[in-house]
Amino acid sequence: MTTNELKTEVSRRKTFAIISHPDAGKTTMTEKLLLYGGAIRLAGTVKGRKARQYAVSDWMEIEKQRGISVTSSVLNFDYEGYRINILDTPGHQDFSEDTYRTLVAADSAVMLIDGAKGVEEQTKKLFHVCRMRGIPIFTFVNKCDRACKNPLELMEEIEETLGIRSYPMNWPIGTDGDFKGVYDRQQMKIELFEGGNHGQNIAASDTGNVDDVRFEALLGERLYNKLREDVALLDIAGDAFDMEKVRAGELTPMFFGSAMTNFGIRQFLEAFLSMAPSPGGRTHSEGGITPEDENFSGFVFKIQANMDAAHRDRIAFIRICSGKYEKGMEVSHARTKRKVRLAQSQQFMAQERTSVEEAYAGDIIGVFDPGTFKIGDTLVAGQKLFRYEGIPMFPAEHFAEVLAKDSSKRKQFLKGIQQISEEGAIQVFKDPNIGIELYTIGVAGELQFEVLEYRLKNEYNVDIQIRRLPYSAARWVVSDQKFTKDNIGYYEAAVVEDQYERTVVLAKNQWTLGYIQEKNKDVTFLDIAPPI
Ligand code: G4P
Repeated sequence: MTTNELKTEVSRRKTFAIISHPDAGKTTMTEKLLLYGGAIRLAGTVKGRKARQYAVSDWMEIEKQRGISVTSSVLNFDYEGYRINILDTPGHQDFSEDTYRTLVAADSAVMLIDGAKGVEEQTKKLFHVCRMRGIPIFTFVNKCDRACKNPLELMEEIEETLGIRSYPMNWPIGTDGDFKGVYDRQQMKIELFEGGNHGQNIAASDTGNVDDVRFEALLGERLYNKLREDVALLDIAGDAFDMEKVRAGELTPMFFGSAMTNFGIRQFLEAFLSMAPSPGGRTHSEGGITPEDENFSGFVFKIQANMDAAHRDRIAFIRICSGKYEKGMEVSHARTKRKVRLAQSQQFMAQERTSVEEAYAGDIIGVFDPGTFKIGDTLVAGQKLFRYEGIPMFPAEHFAEVLAKDSSKRKQFLKGIQQISEEGAIQVFKDPNIGIELYTIGVAGELQFEVLEYRLKNEYNVDIQIRRLPYSAARWVVSDQKFTKDNIGYYEAAVVEDQYERTVVLAKNQWTLGYIQEKNKDVTFLDIAPPI
């Protein structure tokens, strides 16, 4: 493969994640994007993932059916010459840790907002991670076919709660449940909403200039005047469009539409593809690398145990950062400095997995993991060995003491805890003063305790006892002095160590945490642990 061919392949790739609060319409949106890509013919094919209502048994069932997981996977398809990789992130907060890590593999993000609800909790958290990485963020305000918040107020809300300014690419007409369509500011034309649910097909549209008198008749005097007023206001008082700021994640292009009725999706997709970045260069321990470098490199951002009891294998998801992957290729595993063969690689399309012969920088592949990989591991082909920066750890929100009911099962118990923590599904802490094998386990969502119990029993044949702890906030402690229980006074809190022997304080709630911070002004409390 010549450098030019590699360049062409890299430049046509767009790898992004959709971030949103549950119910904003991410499943619907994903499905409609796949529809345009011809990846599915009928909407309704992508299974709804209303994980909020899941019980463990459903979770297991879904794992089996999809063979992959309700946690993040990747969908890819081609559209007008582009290769699109959608990193599918679970909306359910029980899997948020996984979602955070997935964002590390994305080159941009689409923030989906329910027009009636505005910026919700889960979106804030995920946005924070995107911001940290400085990736471009594109906003899609969904459900415009229903009554929505005033769009100017939405812009304000985004700026106030997320600290990013927005640039509306189009503008909704009728937001009180009288939706008539949108005005496209770039192309200066109105696109009419035809109502109904034509979501199973590709939407038709009727277009014309905002000053077209035809539209006064069509929209009615009130909406027509309001639109012209709003657009004039945006032109005068709004930000100018600035691609540099978009690239730096300082300005978010904003689109209004309705995923369910398929309105505004194609326009969004096309504008998004023209603006979203292709894979860029990355820095590493020895300098940096461009995606067009002939040497393959990538990092593991997710490990998923296959729930099929008959094959207790794991899949490691690798984001390719440079070069080309070829089936069965041998690479160096930077942490262990061993050679590994990337076998049985797969890509994921809707519900199916397909075997991959080749893939390029920007793509995600899932490879068979015989237990060699950890999240954050770097894989490199070629002579030069280097490591990408690891993946930061986000604080768990639920904690419990966990121990094996039968102490003779100690070995399996330790193995299970270690493997499941390598997948990133749980965080393991120890009280340095307690020698016995009693672990404090932290998880992002409560359901994961049940999943842990189920998996230890089914995969490792260990019954465990889970005793919930009254903490909900964790912070990594950076201090010159040893930080102990004495530093935190009598409030319900604990001082523990994580897997990497970093001191962590666990507090009952934000208020307690605030109190501890107040008492220890010379100590730094990190809400995200730096990568190892
Ligand atoms: P999620 O993945 O973000 O959790 O959301 P999902 O797509 O499952 O959508 C949540 C609900 O919102 C669904 O309704 C879906 O049909 C609806 N929805 C999505 N996009 C739009 C839109 O543009 N307009 C309107 N009005 N509704 C939208 P549901 O009743 O919970 O499920 P279903 O019976 O439709 O499957």
